[in-house]
Amino acid sequence: MRVKDNAAAQLKELGVEVRPGVSLAEKTSLAIGGTTDLLLLRRYETIPDVMRLLAGENIPHKFLGGGTNVLIADGELPWVALHLPTTQPGMRVEGNTAYVDASADLGGMVTFCAKRDLGGMEGLIGVPGSVGGALRMNAGAYGTQIGTHVREVELYRAATREIETLRGNDIRFDYRHTSFAPDDVMLRVKLELPSKPYKEILAGIRVCNEKRRASQPLNQKSAGCIFKNPPGGSAGKMIDELKLKGHRMGDAMVSDRHANFFVNAGHASCYDMLKLIDEVRERVRGAYGIELENEVIVWQN
Ligand code: EPU
Repeated sequence: MRVKDNAAAQLKELGVEVRPGVSLAEKTSLAIGGTTDLLLLRRYETIPDVMRLLAGENIPHKFLGGGTNVLIADGELPWVALHLPTTQPGMRVEGNTAYVDASADLGGMVTFCAKRDLGGMEGLIGVPGSVGGALRMNAGAYGTQIGTHVREVELYRAATREIETLRGNDIRFDYRHTSFAPDDVMLRVKLELPSKPYKEILAGIRVCNEKRRASQPLNQKSAGCIFKNPPGGSAGKMIDELKLKGHRMGDAMVSDRHANFFVNAGHASCYDMLKLIDEVRERVRGAYGIELENEVIVWQN
């Protein structure tokens, strides 16, 4: 979708940089996604005004974080993409408290805190994406979930159309799900972390990195796990048992390393990936009577 000149001029006054006709395939870890205008929000305090402007001009939008857990439709997209560019360094530590911008890199946050002897997040080290995306999904791995450490979140709330601060206790963090509304925009987080010597944290990080390298296709284009694990079960194990590793739909392929990772093995389209997801879901339903739920977020036209 293209922003008209007069709206673009007003957006500029609010500190928004409009990049016309950007291929979102270049902004996602799956390297899949069509084209639209990308709006970089350089002054996040103007978000309420930006949202009012977009609503007034009838410009639909979606908020793109790190692009590592999203599957985006092909072609010319009927909405614009909003993005908070990274600020440097975007994080600081005071005692056992870390203050981190949502646009910061999740792994970068783990190492920044580790170097200041704050641990507890070792498991998150290899999870690609932004801190904001991790908060929204309650990202987790190897026994760590980001939600455990959250004390406050500053966000743009779609319900009130204002920037607000929520206390950690007032937010629900479940397995890959939170009580944030789909249109809420994460801005900053305050975390409380346990003290731990850097060396010990580093040892924990190494263990997680090794486990991840041994089981996940890290050098291929993916969005991590495609399906959530069903209660008490493992999506990857079921798909593997059905001998679907390496199964393809065009260039969309079930990883031959971890069956819950679907990779873009060339020039996969969103259409190919969605067909593969539906087919695998169908096969699992047929064999196990379990309906797998998407873990990846799908943005269709
Ligand atoms: N398994 C297989 N074949 C496979 C993949 C897995 O048999 O192809 C078996 C494993 O041997 C193991 C079980 O399935 O017995 C679970 O596998 P794994 O330890 O790899 O964990 P997972 O449940 O598949 C979850 C998260 C990952 C996270 C890892 C490590 C979900 C959907 N996935 O994977 O997160 O990195 O644990 O903690 O919860 C993601 O969210 O995108 C993601 C990759």
